[in-house]
Amino acid sequence: MTKAKPEPIYGVDDASYQAAGQEPGIRVLVDDFYHVMSTLPEARKIREMHPEDLEEARDKLARFLCGWLGGPKLFQGKYGPIRIPKAHRHLEIGLAERDAWLLCMEEALKQQPYADSFKKYLLEQLYVPAEGSRNKEE
Ligand code: HEM
Repeated sequence: MTKAKPEPIYGVDDASYQAAGQEPGIRVLVDDFYHVMSTLPEARKIREMHPEDLEEARDKLARFLCGWLGGPKLFQGKYGPIRIPKAHRHLEIGLAERDAWLLCMEEALKQQPYADSFKKYLLEQLYVPAEGSRNKEE
């Protein structure tokens, strides 16, 4: 009898990076994320914070997430050190902007072939840097 494959423990070693489909899967997630951001009315304001051409934003977020999920540190390799709150200091991010960002991620996650448990885990984890990017008291 074959045993059911145990669910990976996300957050341990590179389990999350693997669950996200490694770099190719993360790049698809990020492409879908920015596509959602470009189309969802709730995200209009945060889309407008970005340049018209999203190529670099896509590359940066995908590389960042690879390392953040326990995979290779591809962001630092190309762009140097990063701290998420500092990277957003020049933007005005309040609760509405934070929640719009997370909503785009939630919608993009729905389109991924990930286990439901990983989608839920990832969204919960992303709340932390999203809240850390917020720099406006309501
Ligand atoms: C909370 C809502 C957020 C908003 C509104 C937001 C918005 C933006 C914008 C507009 C940029 C481009 C800045 C520029 O080109 O001047 C940016 C850069 C970036 N964001 Fe966010 N972001 C948010 C949350 C996050 C989160 C949660 C992460 C990571 C999980 C993240 C990762 C990055 C990275 C890696 C960059 C590139 C930074 C660099 O250029 O060095 N962002 N963000």
